[in-house]
Amino acid sequence: MTDAPLPPDGFETRAIHAGNPPDPASGAVVPPITLSTTFVQRAVGEHAGWEYGRSGNPSRDGLEATLASLEGAAHGLAFASGLAAEDAILRQLDPGDRVVLGADAYGGTFRLIDKVHGREGRTWSAIDLTEPGALDDRWPEGTRMVWIETPTNPALGVVDITAAAAAAHARGAVVVVDNTFATPYLQLPLQLGADLVVHSATKYLGGHSDVVGGFVATNDADWAAKLRFTQNATGAVPSPFDCYLVQRGVKTLAVRMDRHVANARAVVEALVEHPAVDRVLWPGLPDHPGYEVARRQMRAPGAMVSFTLVGGEEAALKVAAGTRLFTLAESLGAVESLIEHPGRMTHASVAGSPLEVDPALLRLSVGIETADDLVADLRAALDQVK
Ligand SMILES: Cc1ncc(COP(=O)(O)O)c(C=O)c1O
Repeated sequence: MTDAPLPPDGFETRAIHAGNPPDPASGAVVPPITLSTTFVQRAVGEHAGWEYGRSGNPSRDGLEATLASLEGAAHGLAFASGLAAEDAILRQLDPGDRVVLGADAYGGTFRLIDKVHGREGRTWSAIDLTEPGALDDRWPEGTRMVWIETPTNPALGVVDITAAAAAAHARGAVVVVDNTFATPYLQLPLQLGADLVVHSATKYLGGHSDVVGGFVATNDADWAAKLRFTQNATGAVPSPFDCYLVQRGVKTLAVRMDRHVANARAVVEALVEHPAVDRVLWPGLPDHPGYEVARRQMRAPGAMVSFTLVGGEEAALKVAAGTRLFTLAESLGAVESLIEHPGRMTHASVAGSPLEVDPALLRLSVGIETADDLVADLRAALDQVK
């Protein structure tokens, strides 16, 4: 791993200017979206840097430069979705190689590792990575990659990235961190020892529930070259318009995240006090087991909040269907607040696995609406099951 220093400009400045120069041809302050699928060659092999839209495109280059800068990375690669980005990473493993993933993780990631890469001969072990020393105590033979989500989806566990990376590196494994929930505004995994950062850009980076995308950042030139080859060879690339939407979204990432987190705090305070609520899972609560680690490695605890209901699954389903502003829908990380039942929705694919989700659990993606409205909406839904 090479250590690329963070560029001198602040996060908000880079979110707006990195990878976003005015168009030299027209002076347009917002670079035009390049739709062309092919690029002229003056003579065979002589061109301005682009040949064919799958292999490279100026709009994608711009997005990759912006996001790499935000993650403090030397290299960035954009993909058609978060799972396409994850797939490109997992393809670098050989048959027989093992991936360790947390005992709580996005259901689609588990499905990809188990059902798709399992057929390619790769194996996996689920270990509770939020437990200190878990990797040192229970390192499975043949592990080549440790896949960390932090905070985890949907139980909001916190993994100590520095400690996990040290344990994995001591045994020659590569460390991947899914930074979707935290975003680079709140957490910089490469600075904490991760080799690769992966994102569902569909979430906070895009930020408006109108684009599906994925991203990988790394400071390792060999990994970047392998991923660049896979990006072109398998072709799971984002469209130029999708690149534009994500790049536009990240310009406001910092201000959105500040408001998301402030609203999450208000929602958590209301949940903690409500008699229908059993446990509230949010790394900003002092009694959360990951509170201290989150304070060390995150700027703020994030805006994903999960909670269980005293009345179990029946109450959870009623609350999920009983809100007005919290929209019952999958996905997360956009301006509007969402509520979902992970066991039956986003995480249905982990049923019967070690990653199975508590059926009494609901997950909130707290948006940036007026905080008092969100609190009143949740209280009204919870009052129905008290
Ligand atoms: C933490 C996390 N990682 C990865 C993904 C997959 O991303 P996408 O849906 O963009 O393929 C998701 C999707 O919900 C997610 O929540």
